[in-house]
Amino acid sequence: MKFSLKHKNAVVTGGGSGIGQAICIALAEQGANVHILELHSSNAIETVQSIEKIGGKVNVYSCNVAKGEEVRKAFESIIANGKVDILVNNAGIAHIGNLENTSVEDLDRLYEVNIKGVYNCMQAGISSLKEKGGVIINMASIASSVGINDRFAYSMTKGAVLTMTYSVAKDYLDYGIRCNCISPGRVHTPFVDGFIKKNYPGKEEEMFEKLSKTQPIGRMGKPEEIANMALYLCSDEASFITGTNFSIDGGFTTLNGS
Ligand SMILES: NC(=O)c1ccc[n+]([C@@H]2O[C@H](COP(=O)([O-])OP(=O)(O)OC[C@H]3O[C@@H](n4cnc5c(N)ncnc54)[C@H](O)[C@@H]3O)[C@@H](O)[C@H]2O)c1
Repeated sequence: MKFSLKHKNAVVTGGGSGIGQAICIALAEQGANVHILELHSSNAIETVQSIEKIGGKVNVYSCNVAKGEEVRKAFESIIANGKVDILVNNAGIAHIGNLENTSVEDLDRLYEVNIKGVYNCMQAGISSLKEKGGVIINMASIASSVGINDRFAYSMTKGAVLTMTYSVAKDYLDYGIRCNCISPGRVHTPFVDGFIKKNYPGKEEEMFEKLSKTQPIGRMGKPEEIANMALYLCSDEASFITGTNFSIDGGFTTLNGS
């Protein structure tokens, strides 16, 4: 069977919602044992139910990826039962603001989760991944590569996710570890609904329409569309792919000219 992940252990951060949830389900459908790192294990109930419904295997660990100690403990429990084959660093938080109205507290918060969270998980998982090789996927963004209004802190973090991906891909070539990142355009998830609600109260519908139309394809992406790319990159079918950034953005980065 193509894209089989049978007997593979996959760690997915932020698997309780949106893109992470769709990735967990896609990997479980292909036979992976899925380990979800979530802020609170209760966040992942829906994902767990979906995976159990299809007869898949799933474990959840309450873990803030920004906290090194919590991440190390979660990985110790996972590794005690088998090696890590796949790590998907998906957990991330949003922020709206330009240089002038981004506070240093906001900057640090975004750094802690979106950059240090990725670092913590890769560091905790790397020795296990090195044993027999494996796959790392990092969730970057179109904001990693192009300028987007009012995303100063967010762009900073996603630029770092892109370049950490290149660095790790290069350093671990000889260990059979492939490291890639995915750069989604706007994908309709609670992440998007949350920031529209917070930043544009009373104008939710108007903003949703506006944000949908910024993708030349005319809509936001669906979490499953990102999950299918993640599944491909995790599979042996993608064995020649490392150190690459995949845009999935309805043409946002290349087709926005008139
Ligand atoms: N939705 C989009 O339009 C979009 C576009 C580009 C990139 N992304 C990226 O994709 C990823 C997932 O986005 P989403 O839209 O599915 O988000 P989401 O908010 O729907 O889900 C994120 C999940 O991560 C968890 N999480 C947050 N902080 C955490 C922490 N410190 N430790 C552990 N878990 C934590 C949350 O509990 C939540 O379940 C993020 O990295 C985001 O930056 C999203």
